[in-house]
Parts: sequence; C-alpha cells; structure tokens
Amino acid sequence: VFLQSVDSTNQEVKRLAAQDAPHGTVVVAEQQLTGKGRLGRVWSSPPGTGIWFSFLLRPQLPPSKVSGITLAAGLGVCMAIRQYTGLNALIKWPNDVIIGNKKVCGILTEMGLNGTKIREVVIGVGINVNLKEIPSELQDKATSLYLETGKTYDRIQILAQVLECFEENYETFIRTCSLSGMVEEYNKLLANRNQPVRILDPNQPWEGTALGINEQGELLVKDEQGTIQTVRAGEVSVRGLYSYV
Ligand code: BTN
Repeated sequence: VFLQSVDSTNQEVKRLAAQDAPHGTVVVAEQQLTGKGRLGRVWSSPPGTGIWFSFLLRPQLPPSKVSGITLAAGLGVCMAIRQYTGLNALIKWPNDVIIGNKKVCGILTEMGLNGTKIREVVIGVGINVNLKEIPSELQDKATSLYLETGKTYDRIQILAQVLECFEENYETFIRTCSLSGMVEEYNKLLANRNQPVRILDPNQPWEGTALGINEQGELLVKDEQGTIQTVRAGEVSVRGLYSYV
C-alpha cells in the first residue's frame, strides 16, 4: 500500500490489521506527519528523502519470540544497505543500523495480542536514504546514505532488497523457531562485538564487554569478574562506553 502522506505507517498497518489485512501487507509512505520512534520519541520523516514503511506479520509464535523478528529485520536492512551501496553498515544491538557510529535506520516493533496469542506484529522501519541535512542536535548521532557517499539512491530498489533479505531471515527463523540460521551473520555485522558496553539496568548499571548474540537473540556480555551474562532486549538498554548513544 503506497500513501503520499500518513500519520505513521505503523498506525496505518494497525488500522488495516483491524480490518483483517493479510500477513505480509506492507505500507510505505512518502511522508509521515507523526512518525514514531522507540521510547515515545518522534521519528522525523520528511517527504522524498527516506524509506518509511511498516509491515504486518501474523506469526504462530509465542509472544516471547517476537524480539527475534526485530533482529531479523535489523539484519535484513543491514545486509541490503551493504549489498546495494557497498557501505560498511553494522548493527547496534538489538536493531539500529549504523554507519561509522551514526544511526541510519531505526526499527519500531509493536505487537497486538489475543489473550496470550499473537494477533499481529507490526514492524516499522525508517531508513535515512537521501536526506541532505540532519538537524544540528542530531548531527553526531544520525546520518543518511547520501551523506555517507554523496550519491542519491533509488528508494524503491532499496526497499525491495530489504524485504527480500528480511524474508529470507524470517522464513528461517519461523521454520526453526530459533535464530540459529542467522546468529553467525548477525554477529559478523555486530558493531558492539568485543566492544565495551554499559548496561543500563534500572536496578544497577554495570559495564562489560559485548561478545555477540546467542540463539535466543540475547546479548552475551562478559562482566568485570569475567562471568558471561545474558542481556535481553527491552529489559535494559546498552550504550557504547566511548561512542554513540
Ligand atoms: C527508533 O529507532 O526509535 C525507531 C524508529 C522507527 C521509525 C519507523 S519509520 C516507519 C515506521 N512508522 C513509524 O511511525 N515509525 C516507524
């Protein structure tokens, strides 16, 4: 579904889902008037510059497994950007895609439940493609494919590539109900790998070295005592000690 302008493609997918839209429905908009980021943030989505899209999935999975789909989406975007542009895009766990420590893509996953079963999963993806300017307060944190290369890209081609890469990861994930088919590729592209991280645990923040993800999508972090701990996405947020937020 293509729309010139919409409040948020995630909201539109949720409205379509309520009217029984099928698994696989994709909504892409030229512009979002109230694009949403994670943690209630605003996602700036001006016309003609980025790829702002969301898709509907109706997987038969326990809700606890949904974070794996978001990891598959982050990996799909990262692989597509690398293949299409040759840029060294990497993943900041769990699912930001970054280039040289600056964010180029964010993903917002929302889930609707029927009792304890998944009714729908909405994955919203924002990719800064041809943005020529980044607001001054975000200049050290965000970038676009154009700002990295000086080239303008065909957004339709990139969208097609992202969906293709995602679908491959998703099918493997659903078939095996595990991230085993993706872990190796994901860890190769993980910017946090072997990097110092600060775990913002609400009870007690702590520091360690990120080692990679396991087959449940948890981040393995070696703490200062040398013990390997697992960190679940959503429970805590991870910051690079010396780099981006
Ligand atoms: C984040 O990193 O905070 C997540 C950003 C997600 C932005 C995308 S743009 C398309 C979709 N519609 C929205 O309103 N948000 C997501």
